[in-house]
Amino acid sequence: MAYLSLLAALGVYCVVAFGFTVSSTPGQVINGIGASGAWWPNDVFNFPESVREQVAELLFGPSGAGLTSYRYNVGGGGIGVSNPTRAPETFYVSQGVYNWSADAAGVYFLQKASQFKVPQITAFVNSAPTTMTSNNASCGGTLVDAQIPAYAQYLADVIAHWKEEGVVFTHVSLMNEPDDTFGSCGQEGMEVTPQQRASVINTLRSALDAAGLQSVGIMADESSSTGNFIPEAPEWIPQVQKGALAAVSHHQYGFGSDAEVAQMGSIGRNLSGVYTWFTEICCFKAADSSQQNNPAAPLTYSGIYEPTMIGALQLGQLVYQSFTQALDAHFDFWTALSNGIGCAPLGNATCPTAPNSNGWNDGLIYYDPDYATNQNTALYQVKRLFLMKHFANFIWMGSTRFNVSGLPSNVFGMAFKNPAQQSTQLGTAHSSLILMNMGNSAISVQPSQAGLGTSIGGALTSPTVDWQTFGASSSVSLPGLSITTLLFN
Ligand SMILES: *[C@@H]1O[C@H](CO)[C@@H](O)[C@H](O)[C@H]1NC(C)=O
Ligand SMILES: *[C@@H]1O[C@H](CO)[C@@H](O)[C@H](O)[C@H]1NC(C)=O
Ligand SMILES: *[C@@H]1O[C@H](CO)[C@@H](O)[C@H](O)[C@H]1NC(C)=O
Ligand SMILES: *[C@@H]1O[C@H](CO)[C@@H](O)[C@H](O)[C@H]1NC(C)=O
Ligand SMILES: *[C@@H]1O[C@H](CO)[C@@H](O)[C@H](O)[C@H]1NC(C)=O
Repeated sequence: MAYLSLLAALGVYCVVAFGFTVSSTPGQVINGIGASGAWWPNDVFNFPESVREQVAELLFGPSGAGLTSYRYNVGGGGIGVSNPTRAPETFYVSQGVYNWSADAAGVYFLQKASQFKVPQITAFVNSAPTTMTSNNASCGGTLVDAQIPAYAQYLADVIAHWKEEGVVFTHVSLMNEPDDTFGSCGQEGMEVTPQQRASVINTLRSALDAAGLQSVGIMADESSSTGNFIPEAPEWIPQVQKGALAAVSHHQYGFGSDAEVAQMGSIGRNLSGVYTWFTEICCFKAADSSQQNNPAAPLTYSGIYEPTMIGALQLGQLVYQSFTQALDAHFDFWTALSNGIGCAPLGNATCPTAPNSNGWNDGLIYYDPDYATNQNTALYQVKRLFLMKHFANFIWMGSTRFNVSGLPSNVFGMAFKNPAQQSTQLGTAHSSLILMNMGNSAISVQPSQAGLGTSIGGALTSPTVDWQTFGASSSVSLPGLSITTLLFN
């Protein structure tokens, strides 16, 4: 170990070859990789049009991450919310009366996602309009039973309106972390008790069907952790009408063990008969601070801004656990952009690139929290954006996951086969092998061992390069702290 560290310190590569096998047993079908439009549009909409367009390209465009899922936050009006950025406007005026000019900021980026043909667009809610919550506010209350039909009709009306405007929501998520009233009011939120959940889902299903929106899938319940999900799922999922749910959605803020997340996925699927989706995560660091440079070490909820490959591969670890243990069919990061950079980036080139403990791992792209006073509208891309680009580009919609075994324990591998040929930057492909090297030493692999077809090269993101493509080769080196995708046709 000491010898290897010395070699690493001297910049000497330690290249070791390993054999590995891609299983022929199909896993789940995966259908979407994304992030959400919560909150940052309220800031970034104030930026020059050229910067706003750059944001859309970086998230949705072919030269950017090419996300295949976007979650638009249907605002509740932000009544009572202390942080103005986290107080989105609402379309709701009164029952059946809407102000479609509201939330111009959120709608701008929603329309961009639609123009870029992001295949999955979800309307997600933190709080119902204030007339439907127990305390007449957008945080701190509970959904009122008697207002469930009105709430369902409101969501159906919002989705129908945007469909007429050419923005097709494929999914709707009608509650967020519903155990929590969000009484601290740093953001919108409302409690939806386990006893209410099936009723809201069934009522919304009827309202959508009546509006001709049968194709819009409902997901629930966005539980914050395995600790909420596992005991509560049996209280609400069995009461949901058959066919009313398209996916069981969950978060993972408890950073549960492999066994816990596997149990969550299994319970969710067994009770519902539909796939589980991982729909939100952010804000993590190594649970044991002595492991902070090991991205495979167990994580915990915490502030910290970690823009490097460590922060990226910590997210990679969560995606790997989601797909290989929970067997989720979909993965979303939390907020696509964030001002939680934790330092003052204007005139300080180190600030955006160095970790600091004042910021948050809650963005793929960051911006200056002081933009309104210093006019700095620069965008700061972190390694997480490029990690997500690998997943969004090469875990194709509708592709099937396969286990990979025999890799060294610090290399996390996942293989995907697409039913059809897929055009990529490197030519047409139908299979991908994503390899994350969580260790510090380079490791060499032979693409032919994958048995996935003819290697056509791939793409690499490492401490020194972002999304560097390379051609076919009999041996590929996975640098320390890197993500590499190998493509095959
Ligand atoms: C994948 O490997 C895990 C063990 O890591 C095993 O439990 C599971 O059954 C395998 N799944 C498939 C589809 O091969
Ligand atoms: C609609 O919302 C916009 C944006 O907040 C606001 O300027 C306008 O006054 C609202 N219109 C009505 C009729 O409430
Ligand atoms: C909420 O508003 C309704 C209607 O105006 C009112 O009757 C009720 O007392 C209010 N509730 C609270 C908790 O303020
Ligand atoms: C889900 O169902 C499968 C198949 O019946 C079963 O093997 C598994 O134990 C169930 N999982 C849970 C958590 O009950
Ligand atoms: C620049 O940013 C770095 C990293 O956050 C910080 O340590 C340093 O103090 C900043 N420099 C100045 C002059 O503010």
